[in-house]
Amino acid sequence: MLVLGFQGSPRKKGNTSFLLSTFMQAVEKLGAQTRIIEVAQKNIIPCKEYVVCEKKGYCPIDDDIKVEIYPLIRQAEVVVLASPIFFYNMTAQLKAVVDRCQTFWARKYKLKLTDPAKKTKCGFFLSVGATKGKNLFEGLQLTAQYFFDAIDARFEGSLTYRGIEGPKDMAKHPNVLEDVEKAVAELIKPLLGRKKILFACRENACRSQMASAFAQYLAGEKFEVLNGGSEPADKINPDMIKVMHEKGIDMAFRSPQSIEAAISNNSPEVIVTMGCGKECPFVPGAQMLDWDLPDPAGKPLDFMRQVRDEIENRVKNLIKQLP
Ligand SMILES: Cc1cc2nc3c(=O)[nH]c(=O)nc-3n(C[C@H](O)[C@H](O)[C@H](O)COP(=O)(O)O)c2cc1C
Repeated sequence: MLVLGFQGSPRKKGNTSFLLSTFMQAVEKLGAQTRIIEVAQKNIIPCKEYVVCEKKGYCPIDDDIKVEIYPLIRQAEVVVLASPIFFYNMTAQLKAVVDRCQTFWARKYKLKLTDPAKKTKCGFFLSVGATKGKNLFEGLQLTAQYFFDAIDARFEGSLTYRGIEGPKDMAKHPNVLEDVEKAVAELIKPLLGRKKILFACRENACRSQMASAFAQYLAGEKFEVLNGGSEPADKINPDMIKVMHEKGIDMAFRSPQSIEAAISNNSPEVIVTMGCGKECPFVPGAQMLDWDLPDPAGKPLDFMRQVRDEIENRVKNLIKQLP
């Protein structure tokens, strides 16, 4: 399970950086993977309102948001925004990330598509400000809430600190470690201990992608879902994306990965293969199931639909069968 954090302060080793790293260390202690994006060091172009996302569902601007950040937001089950208060909101650097996520807003509200991880995806924010006013975090709270809604994440709360100004003030705070550990435990513990299921096929471009998306979509709270391929393709199958979109399930920003990458941090308890049984690695103790489904790649769209529906039924049965 990935926890993705955006460090929104341009100040290196300042208060926000300290707060987010402390938070991520607590996450790792509980056994989840983490990734911090230092927003000020990325090539992020602010939204230019081309409105392509609202019509076509993608952003034409080529930068780190497109290449790295959109896929990470989709992969993460927990997204953490961390920012100092700059004029009663987040920093401009972080706001540029948020505005570019209009692409997710458009996919959700204009194209009516749902992130397969919606059931479990959640958002949290961390913030610090120099002054002590009651309304200090209200602007950020509103922006963060609408951002989390756009990326299909449930807003789970925040940790905020007033009177923090010099770069080391946060590190000197008497309760910060205790606050962070408590918040992280409440946020992460419900997601730990889910049964890990790996869906695997040869290219990880079509059948195992559909199976993993259905499993997340239908039972993400019960299963931690992994997917991989023995010979991963360059990109996922465009016809598969089309037929999954007919079901309202958004497959954007996913790409094939190797089985080794899928299980490098996670040992699956159940492995479901899509007819590539012999090519799959042996994972000690894992229950092996082979669905022996035909490969719909390169076949007519109707055949892809049949395989999609068969996979959906099998996933539903699997959910019923597994404890
Ligand atoms: C451009 C700018 C605007 C700021 N605006 C506010 C503000 O509106 N309210 C406030 O309490 N602090 C404000 N601050 C102070 C920062 O929030 C504070 O120093 C914070 O601790 C910086 O965190 P960092 O070390 O993570 O960058 C501002 C600082 C800067 C540089």
